[in-house]
Amino acid sequence: MDGNGRWAKARKKPRHAGHRAGVKAVRATVEAAAERGVKVLTLFAFSSENWGRPESEVSSLMSLFVEALRREVSELHRNNVRLRFIGALEQLSDGLQAKMAEAVRKTAGNTGLVLNVAVAYGGRWDIVRAARTLARRASEGEIELEHIDADTIAAELQLAGMPDPDLLIRTGGEQRISNFLLWNLAYAELWFTDVLWPDFDKAEFDKALAAFARKQRRYGQTGEQIEAAEC
Ligand code: FPP
Repeated sequence: MDGNGRWAKARKKPRHAGHRAGVKAVRATVEAAAERGVKVLTLFAFSSENWGRPESEVSSLMSLFVEALRREVSELHRNNVRLRFIGALEQLSDGLQAKMAEAVRKTAGNTGLVLNVAVAYGGRWDIVRAARTLARRASEGEIELEHIDADTIAAELQLAGMPDPDLLIRTGGEQRISNFLLWNLAYAELWFTDVLWPDFDKAEFDKALAAFARKQRRYGQTGEQIEAAEC
């Protein structure tokens, strides 16, 4: 969700105003995803690297997360959305962690869209953590080294049990992954748009989905193999 700062700067507003406007785009995108039948949506709200931003921006973002939880969770619950958080949540304040846990508990039984919010998340952090867990289990004789494969690694990652993302959308004009779900995005289709996150809406979401629908997903096979399998 990139471009909040530039959106605010263009309006001669503080960066915080951009993040606030970003919450509206989050709402529109979650609604669009649920309406379009998306099963899982994962939002990159705060990266491991974002801790390096000025303290005032970090603390205003944290306050915004608390406020967004307070204002949005009931509506998400009414719409059958299951909310989850991924990332180094222990790095967050006790108050924010408690609000997150409460929201997760409240929506745990919902059967609609799964909404993962990545906070204090980094793709490398995720993989390092999985590697450590598997190394520990191997050294304790719980698993054989030879049994470590792509599935055992995926089962230790933050999105364990969820399908790999089919589509990555990045707003704000940059064309990079920036340490998002490095492992899980291996075969994702990538959609980059210059639209700044606060301006992202249902129409923009539909553009990304339409482009995705035109893709042939080959997973290393040839186009002819895929077409034959579809017949
Ligand atoms: C990146 O834009 C955006 C962020 C670091 C924060 C994203 C947070 C929100 C959209 C707030 C709401 C989130 C939830 C889940 C309620 P940037 O600040 O890097 O923008 P810039 O590149 O234009 O400076």
